[in-house]
Amino acid sequence: MKHILHVVGARPNFVKAAPVVRAIRELGLRQTLVHTGQHYDRNMSDVFFTELEIPEPDFNLEVGSGSHASQTAEIMHRFEPVVTEQKPDIVLVYGDVNSTVAAALVCSKLLIPIGHVEAGLRSFDRAMPEEINRIVTDRLSDVLFTPSEDGDVNLKREGVPPERIRLVGNVMIDSLIRLLPMAKSCPKNGAPGFALVTLHRPSNVDNSENLQRIVRSLVEVSEQLDITFPVHPRTRQRIKEFGISAERLHLYEPMPYIEFLSLQTRAAVVITDSGGIQEETTYLGVPCLTLRANTERPVTVDMGTNILVGDDKGRLDSELRNILAGKGKKGVIPPLWDGHAGERIAQILATL
Ligand code: UD1
Repeated sequence: MKHILHVVGARPNFVKAAPVVRAIRELGLRQTLVHTGQHYDRNMSDVFFTELEIPEPDFNLEVGSGSHASQTAEIMHRFEPVVTEQKPDIVLVYGDVNSTVAAALVCSKLLIPIGHVEAGLRSFDRAMPEEINRIVTDRLSDVLFTPSEDGDVNLKREGVPPERIRLVGNVMIDSLIRLLPMAKSCPKNGAPGFALVTLHRPSNVDNSENLQRIVRSLVEVSEQLDITFPVHPRTRQRIKEFGISAERLHLYEPMPYIEFLSLQTRAAVVITDSGGIQEETTYLGVPCLTLRANTERPVTVDMGTNILVGDDKGRLDSELRNILAGKGKKGVIPPLWDGHAGERIAQILATL
């Protein structure tokens, strides 16, 4: 029987893998789940497994945190014996985190076929570690599952043979669609009309001046709009390290998936530097202001509710004014963001 091995490691990977694992299970194929341990806190990992009903990993490599080189190397080192012993027919890697590229590197040298879920995305900004991970992973992959047409265009431009590219839609939206009814029935705390904020990109949070500037802007925003800000561990460390005062903002621990989704559905605006949240807000039709100069998910700008404000405070203010005046950007849901991407991937794997 065909044997599929999934590698996941960081929070967004769990959301993406859940529907694929489910669809493969329904087809009755054999599958093995490897968690690298890149994210390890309960609220960054375990709660996602529980809420998304992902089975317990068969292997946890427990790599933990480290510099890019040491984390990637450690994942490679610990993953190699597992995949050698398991002998899967194909390894599925997800998204653009260090766990993704590390597993792809190992498999490519062992001549194990690689499927990349969420292939083809490009920010064209190599200062972003994820961009390096995307380019290398796509280069090494045998089957490239893309979430939107722009992914296909990028891959073809880079010379990937078209028969390797499979436009399947967005697996992250599969998870959203499945759990949206639960999110909508969550108890609704707090007043309506708040701004939901997330921030964790190294370019925004690892530099003291940038982080101070962003927090200052958010404090100003909080004069007109309540802010709900679940804080990523990287960002919390930096706020502390740089001695930044963020008292005016309501800071929370990282939130479970359903609770965060519930907040997204009710927010007046989402202000973020995340990739996945640009997609989720586009699906939900909620205005999203992205604190980045570029995005690897241009479909959220072209078709969805996303606006790139970068570090332009004037733009942030003017877009916020528009949104609060009810003149926020309206969007449509991109093709194939329909809750069935995981099933399409499973079908393709079954017939490969
Ligand atoms: C990683 C991904 C990023 C993704 C993000 C989602 C890479 C290069 N980056 O960034 O693309 O958007 O996950 O969250 O793979 N930490 C904890 N507990 C945890 C995990 C991390 O406290 O469970 C702290 C550690 O101090 C660590 C820091 O957060 O050093 C950053 O973690 P890391 O996995 O290196 O990168 P992220 O910023 O989470």
